This record gives sequence, C-alpha cells and structure tokens, in this order.
Amino acid sequence: MDFLSTYKGGLLVISHDLPLLDESITSVLAVEHGTLEPFRGNYSYFLAERERRREQRIRERKHQDEKIARLEEGIRRFKGKTEKMAKRARSWETRVEKLKAQRTEISRRGRQVAVRFPQPPPSGRTPIKAQGLAKAFGQNVVFVDVDVDIDRGERMIIMGLNGAGKTTLLRILAGVEHADIGEVELGHQVSLGYYAQEHEQIRAGDSVLDHMRTVSALPDRELRSILGHFLLADKVDQDAGTLSGGEKTKLALAQVAVGAHNVLLLDEPTNNLDPQAKEALLDALEQYEGTLILVSHDTDFVEELAPDRAILMPDGATAYFDESMLDLVALA
Ligand SMILES: Nc1ncnc2c1ncn2[C@@H]1O[C@H](COP(=O)(O)OP(=O)(O)OP(=O)(O)O)[C@@H](O)[C@H]1O
Ligand SMILES: [Mg+2]
Repeated sequence: MDFLSTYKGGLLVISHDLPLLDESITSVLAVEHGTLEPFRGNYSYFLAERERRREQRIRERKHQDEKIARLEEGIRRFKGKTEKMAKRARSWETRVEKLKAQRTEISRRGRQVAVRFPQPPPSGRTPIKAQGLAKAFGQNVVFVDVDVDIDRGERMIIMGLNGAGKTTLLRILAGVEHADIGEVELGHQVSLGYYAQEHEQIRAGDSVLDHMRTVSALPDRELRSILGHFLLADKVDQDAGTLSGGEKTKLALAQVAVGAHNVLLLDEPTNNLDPQAKEALLDALEQYEGTLILVSHDTDFVEELAPDRAILMPDGATAYFDESMLDLVALA
C-alpha cells in the first residue's frame, strides 16, 4: 500500500481490496454487463456515481417510453382514417421504430450470491483437540509445542505473518498433513470441511459439476441448484481449471457447503471474492452454528465476524479475541 501510494508512474490494478481501491486509485474502469465504463474517482466515488448514472438512465428511459406511447396512441387514432392521416401515421411508425432501437438500455442489477452452510448435526463438546504439535520442513522449524483446544460452536481465528505456519497448522487439523510431533484428536461425530488457500481441490480437466459429484451423493438437480446459489449455474459443464479466480473460490466453497459439516476449516476464503460475494460469505458464516477455524488477513471481514478466540502463529499463543487484535490481522 505504501509503495502504491507513493509510486509516480501509472498503475493498472485489478483488485477487490476496498482500502486499496479507495486510497491508491484515482479512476475506475468498471467491466459490467459486457461494457467497459470509465469513472474519474476512487471506489467510493464509483459506487455513488454508478448509482447516479443508473438513475439518470432510468429517467431517460421513462421519457423515451412515454414519447413512444404517445406516438403509438396517435398511430392508433389516425390509422384507417383519411389517406392523409394514414400517411402521417406511417411516418410516425418509422419514427417509433427508430426511437425503440435507440432506447436507453437499463442493465439489470447483478444477481447476488447466496451462500448457505446448512446447519449440521452437532458434534461432541470438543470437536478438535491437539497437544504439543510440532512441524518442520527440513531445517525450517515452522512451529513447536502448539496446543489447540476448540469448543463446539466456537469461532477461532489463526493469525500471523506470511509464512508463520497458519496453513500448515490448518492442514494438520484437517488431516491432509501430519505433525512431526503430536496428534490431532477429533471429537464425537465430527465432520470436517476444509477450504484450502490455493484452490488445491480444483482439478483441471474435470467439470464444475463433477467437482460437486466427488464430494456429495446428492442428485445432480440439487447440486446444480447449489451451484446456482454460488452464481455458477452457467458454468456447470465448464472445465473447472479454466474458471476465474473468484469462480474457483466459489466452487470450493460450494463443495464445502454441500458437505453439511459441523466443523469448518477455512484458509483465507475471501481471497478473490468480489465485495458482494464476501458479504454473502460473511452472512452465511454468521448464521452458521457449527465450529469455525479461520485464517484471514481481511481486517473488515474478521471485525464483522467477531471471532471468539485467536491463535497467534508461530508461537501458538491463544487469547480471547478483541478489536485491538485487528492490527495483527492486517499485519500479515
Ligand atoms: N511442503 C512444504 N515444503 C517446504 N516448506 C514448506 C512446505 N509447506 C510450507 N512450508 C514452509 O512452512 C512455512 C509456513 O508455511 P504456511 O503456508 O503454513 O504459512 P502461512 O502462515 O499460511 O503463510 P501465508 O500468510 O503466506 O498464507 C513457510 O516458511 C513455508 O515456506
Ligand atoms: Mg497460508
């Protein structure tokens, strides 16, 4: 952010990061509804100005429709009367056609993502417990002696700088990686849903629908409907490897959602998501009654979610979460 705000050259940035878009950006090119529209100002300006332009187009369109309606009324009254009147009516008809062709288009507002994590059957009181976890990759000791003890329904955030071992810890809890020392104990009837940071569960060559089939026995009709909630309805047959970054995130979240798990392990699930989709994810997590362990560097997201506790990596210290820790969230 510091670099961008002092950089003297021109910048063309693609981003969903709202603080960046408001602090370092002087104009916006919006790609929407198949058009590219320029706005001279930052993101906040863009939001307000887009709404103003939309309202202006609605007013224009209303005037055009009224004019067309008046002409059409005239055509009805003049047609089939005298030859002279019929001639006038025909010229109006040409006019109406022209006006109709030039009418201002009002684009429909984009459909909203509707993320839902179904309320799962509850797990035991302590869904995940681990003591004295340690992990090293060759000479690189990532962490030693980390304890995790999470209560049912609790929301825990894992914090730390890049490379501190957040993903490594989450992978160990998810059972996709083994600790060098220490074991992870899962509680009674625990069902884990893991969302990986780098879309590693997305396989190029397999369709979007196939990805849902591998994680769920539900009939295709229901899988399609869930994909629809994530705005992937028109992508069901597409090779998942060719999805955009945000679409991959949505597919991976749809895979987690369809599993109806009672413990979610989410590693930076807001990466690549546009602001609307992020809001939808936040709503869904706020309503989710299962247990949640989250890695996120997104300060606004974490603030709104208000987790119960935080683990700070790499030392593994645990503390009740309060707003003063938001600076730490942003740090990494
Ligand atoms: N398979 C691996 N082989 C070697 N080193 C690894 C491996 N996986 C992770 N590491 C190293 O372990 C450390 C912790 O990585 P990890 O992905 O857990 O960090 P993180 O806290 O999730 O960081 P970020 O905020 O960038 O996602 C890093 O130094 C990384 O280079
Ligand atoms: Mg990570």
